[in-house]
Amino acid sequence: MSFDKGLAKTVAAETEMSFIDGERGVLEYVGIDIDSLARNATFEEVVYLLWNRRLPTRDELGRFVQLLRSNSELPEPAWDMIRSIPPDAAPMHALQTMVSSLALFDPEADINTPEANDLKAVRLLSKTPALIANFDRHRKGLDMVRPRQDLSIAGGFIYMLTGEEPTETMERALDVCLILHADHGLNASTFASRVCISTLSDLYSAITAAIGTLRGPLHGGANEAVMHMLDEIGSMDDVESYLDERLRNKDKIMGFGHRVYKTFDPRATYLKTFAEQLAADTGNTDLYQMSRLIEQIMHERVGDRGIHPNVDFYSATTYFSIGLDVDLFTPMFAMSRIAGWAGHCIEQLSDNRLIRPKASYVGPHEQPWVDIDDR
Ligand code: ACO
Repeated sequence: MSFDKGLAKTVAAETEMSFIDGERGVLEYVGIDIDSLARNATFEEVVYLLWNRRLPTRDELGRFVQLLRSNSELPEPAWDMIRSIPPDAAPMHALQTMVSSLALFDPEADINTPEANDLKAVRLLSKTPALIANFDRHRKGLDMVRPRQDLSIAGGFIYMLTGEEPTETMERALDVCLILHADHGLNASTFASRVCISTLSDLYSAITAAIGTLRGPLHGGANEAVMHMLDEIGSMDDVESYLDERLRNKDKIMGFGHRVYKTFDPRATYLKTFAEQLAADTGNTDLYQMSRLIEQIMHERVGDRGIHPNVDFYSATTYFSIGLDVDLFTPMFAMSRIAGWAGHCIEQLSDNRLIRPKASYVGPHEQPWVDIDDR
């Protein structure tokens, strides 16, 4: 039996949701190119596609959107639970706790029929924006804002976060980010969710495991690191020296490179165009210009080695332009990826086999027992 450290060469699941070809820079959801989805679809439409393996008709989409909106209100005790979280808690810890606690108020939490799980997926996706936005309000000492039933997931989130009507540009910007992050093969957090559900645990536990996995800086935390880097560089004049020093020291430049994509990250293509438009609309052009300069210099220095901007590079400036605090960037990733995690869990249960790989034991054998007084 061969040992594959990090499982990079191991195929551990079959999926009908997303397809990745790292050499050609392709990402498809159910066979549809991500760029085309980002340009044309809404996040709700993409979730329907991922969960049903086909695009909805106008009527089906209308009913699905209604179902999501009618499930967006939090159970009453959840509001007190948000207020009980220490305001200085890391938002990803808060999110993991809040999502996990939703199971306490769901009478179907432990029912694993396809019908119950479909509804739990809807509840999880619809309620998460209220959890993240209201935790942010709580830590800033602001009153809670309840979800509105007449807004999209993206628009409703901005409304709860700011207490103001979302502008069309901001709603669309967030919607595009949600579409681009919704699913990505058997990434670490998705794998964690499939392992959890494969024990016939429950969807809340599986999503909680995935959130804990996403928060690591080698996975979902990179978008926050990009923003810290832009902050650290500070001005256009310092970009070149910053990059050259980092590259000389063999440090990684945040938002560049990808384990799978070696030509380009297809999620970054449209986001880059969009980030430019958003920067102009919101007056954040300095940050965008700095990002372009970083991209240009990185292209000159390491482009021939397949190191290009990844989705995190331009999602950082996009989130910043929307007005999100940096530590909400990874929770935004989670808010979108719940679509992928829930879809994968339901897919796993449809043809389940306990995921239980082996470890190669490399310790000693045939050791004598030594009494505690003689050690
Ligand atoms: N900046 C500078 N050099 C880089 C970068 C980078 N961002 N990424 C890779 N390299 C270099 C490495 O130093 C290494 O050089 P060497 O051969 O001289 O030692 C070579 O490219 C290969 O690097 P690896 O780390 O082995 O490549 P891998 O494919 O394993 O890494 C990863 C991919 C982890 C994403 C890496 O590119 C990285 O750390 N990037 C920065 C963090 C980041 O943006 N992560 C987000 C990824 S996208 C997402 O998670 C949604």
